Amino acid sequence: MTFGKWGKVAVAALGVAALSSAVFAQDKEALVKNRIDFMKGQAADNKAIGDYAKGMATKEAATKAINDLIDRSGKIVAMFPAGTSSTDMPGKSNAKAAIWTDHAKFVEIAKTLHDTAVAEADVIKTGTPEAVGAAQANLGKVGCGACHGPYREKLPG
Ligand code: HEC
Repeated sequence: MTFGKWGKVAVAALGVAALSSAVFAQDKEALVKNRIDFMKGQAADNKAIGDYAKGMATKEAATKAINDLIDRSGKIVAMFPAGTSSTDMPGKSNAKAAIWTDHAKFVEIAKTLHDTAVAEADVIKTGTPEAVGAAQANLGKVGCGACHGPYREKLPG
């Protein structure tokens, strides 16, 4: 069997397409791994602030953590490009497809997290540790939990 000149070009082009989609799949896996690490960083910040509220960490540590949360809140939306849902990448991604079908609300919750964290930074600066504890519980609810409910698959375990 012979492909002729143009047949060979077409076969070569198919090979390149297969290669680049394999590379893209690898990129996507790195991206999802990176965003999971990023989310764990937010959880570590939450813990540092919670520890401060309980008198188990310094105000300096809590200030560093809330500043990190403010910084990270602006980066969340860009970490979810289309094609990285749990349907696209089963067993790897826990991002529900709703992120892309109901995107406006997703963006809105990230903004709520940002605004809530900015307000909480003031509480850390001027309020009591008890007030910080209350602010932190609220942030966990309206900033983190509000997004995980509709947009994150139930985590195993
Ligand atoms: C706008 C939506 C959104 C916000 C806000 C958000 N998350 Fe997430 N989070 C997700 C999604 C979606 C996933 C699943 C990501 C994946 O599997 O690729 C996730 C995953 C996680 C994970 C699981 C990581 C793992 O082990 O798989 C943790 C922990 C986490 N988030 C913590 C937080 C904390 C703490 C906050 C608040 C400070 C927060 N997130 C705010 C959407 C959000």
